[in-house]
Amino acid sequence: MADTDNLKDTKEYFLDIPMKAAQSNVRGASALDWGMQNRLSRIFQPGSGKTVMLAVDHGYFQGPTAGLERVDVTIVPLLQNADALMCTRGILRSTIPASLQSGVVLRASGGPSILKELSNEHIAVDMDDAARLNVSAVAVQVYIGGEFESQSVHNMTRLVDAGLGRGIPVLGVTAVGKDMVRDARYFRLACRICAELGAQFVKTYYVDEGFETVTASCPVPVVMAGGKKLPELDALTMAYRAVQEGAAGVDMGRNIFQSDAPLAMIQAVNKVVHERMKPEHAYELYQTLQREQAGRPV
Ligand code: R5P
Repeated sequence: MADTDNLKDTKEYFLDIPMKAAQSNVRGASALDWGMQNRLSRIFQPGSGKTVMLAVDHGYFQGPTAGLERVDVTIVPLLQNADALMCTRGILRSTIPASLQSGVVLRASGGPSILKELSNEHIAVDMDDAARLNVSAVAVQVYIGGEFESQSVHNMTRLVDAGLGRGIPVLGVTAVGKDMVRDARYFRLACRICAELGAQFVKTYYVDEGFETVTASCPVPVVMAGGKKLPELDALTMAYRAVQEGAAGVDMGRNIFQSDAPLAMIQAVNKVVHERMKPEHAYELYQTLQREQAGRPV
């Protein structure tokens, strides 16, 4: 029984301070359950409201990818610089230390390999397993305009329903097929459909023209996808522009782990996303860190 002797009188009611209502700094998240908002805050830094996600889920359809042959050697040393890691449950359970402090965005769709029609995906993870893994969100590919468009949208809506039941957000990943146009009009359509149908955040590609209309018309955070490997300055410039034009951060894979200096690159990306460092300065920082990390004189 609790000790109830000599209880202190209550007195500090701070009558001159209005009671604060907790507000999320994640777009569209203020009406979500506390658990879901808490999970989103493990992806989007509460300070900047932005995220640097490290995408290493490529193996789910293309097997060992350049830079991901040995995730234990090449990716684990980068993890403390990632707000969230996007990966499969196979890599998570086999290779990622359970002491991980970053959020996890779990790949939850799959099926076809690069040898088949990629849009023919199904749900690949039960939401109970996602909860067991204590992930911060699950990710699902959505193929608007693709051969299996409707099926992929249905994958997402089923995950959204299951996620709402457990407080686990869903990331809708707008996938582009070989023959699909990559312009602002297409990405506005794809992102908005994901958000309208319940995804709590969306991942999409950057476009030079009109990216700000993609972010402006999406009621949940838009995270910029990295895409194919670019020269480091170009990748930093793309990330900078995306954030300036309304992205809530980046989810980059090959542009980090296929860089000549992956650790220096993810550190430079962090500066761009969280501190809005200009790309030229971030590139200088990248070069300095690259030399330091290679043990050469700066
Ligand atoms: C893309 O849609 C998939 O989720 C990928 O496997 C991965 O996240 C892509 O990352 P990146 O294009 O930055 O290498």
